[in-house]
Amino acid sequence: MSDYHAFFQRYMPLLEAHMREVLRPPSEAVEPHYGMMEYHLGWRDEALRPVQVYAGKRVRPMLLLLATEAVGGAVEGALPAAAAVELLHNFSLIHDDIEDESPTRRGRPSLWQVWGVPQAINVGDGMFALAYRALEGLRAHHPPERVLTALDVFVSTTIRLTEGQYMDMAFEGRLDVGVEAYLQMIEGKTAALIGASTGLGALLGGVPERVWQRFYTFGRYVGLTFQIVDDILGIWGDESTLGKSVATDILTKKKTYPVVYGLTASPVADQLQALYAGPPFTEEDVPRVVALLEQAGAREAAWQMAARFHARALGALEQMPYTSEAFQALLHFADSLLIRRR
Ligand code: IPE
Ligand code: IPE
Ligand code: MG
Ligand code: MG
Repeated sequence: MSDYHAFFQRYMPLLEAHMREVLRPPSEAVEPHYGMMEYHLGWRDEALRPVQVYAGKRVRPMLLLLATEAVGGAVEGALPAAAAVELLHNFSLIHDDIEDESPTRRGRPSLWQVWGVPQAINVGDGMFALAYRALEGLRAHHPPERVLTALDVFVSTTIRLTEGQYMDMAFEGRLDVGVEAYLQMIEGKTAALIGASTGLGALLGGVPERVWQRFYTFGRYVGLTFQIVDDILGIWGDESTLGKSVATDILTKKKTYPVVYGLTASPVADQLQALYAGPPFTEEDVPRVVALLEQAGAREAAWQMAARFHARALGALEQMPYTSEAFQALLHFADSLLIRRR
């Protein structure tokens, strides 16, 4: 099995340099606007002094670049898209933390906690647009037809992401969210962008549509797996490792997979239904809800579901003729996401 770390060591500085270039402030007057973006990306502290702190796993650009190399393409021509998916992801997190009232992100105060909701909304908007600006860089490396296809994938992904976020928030107030609706929600909020990452990676590696669609499907299932694992970690993970609160999902009555399972398919469904139908949860309620979910077998059920999607991800690439080291590393990296702790 090929080690993906060696690939990451090569990709990471290229990606960071590319993102920094895209985020360069055009004038002194707006430096703090870009500085706040850099804070979110782990490049600055609260006083906007340069730092280098934990900046996230960079899962999406790494998947993208691995997919490009897996099919024999050149990393350089895929970097604009790698920067674009990471910027789009980070835009979504800046807004997501406002939407979810999450005070912590990657072990530091969320952007809205430091600079307030109005500035955080605007910083997110700026990063959203810069993701598209980054994607434009593909024009220097690819024929117009391919760039337009990439743009089409990216636009659809952005739309799906906001659809998923809509469902995620709407579900907070509902008790009747079934597995099917849950899957539709995470398909939008998470799987679409991860699918786009592997799909775009292969597309920019120059393969025909039938092939890059397979890579898209692979990423989609990796994304579904990823979100279910995120749901588990969001309840049973270690807060300091995770860098985000493990109470927020319960407090806001998020319909994560363990909760959906607990509310609809478990022996303690009635008890959980009664709790979730009651007044808003406080910090004191959290341990009782978590204990009930545990009793419901929700943690185990979620792991089973995650493993099922992981197998489907691998299945999507099973018949592919690739034997490159990058291809092996791509599969290996997908495996590692199943056992991640943050
Ligand atoms: C968090 O994504 C949001 C989800 C889609 C679960 P990541 O877990 O990829 O966040 P970072 O970028 O590594 O912090
Ligand atoms: C993940 O949202 C998806 C997006 C941000 C689009 P979550 O709300 O589930 O993720 P965390 O737990 O805050 O990272
Ligand atoms: Mg959310
Ligand atoms: Mg959130």
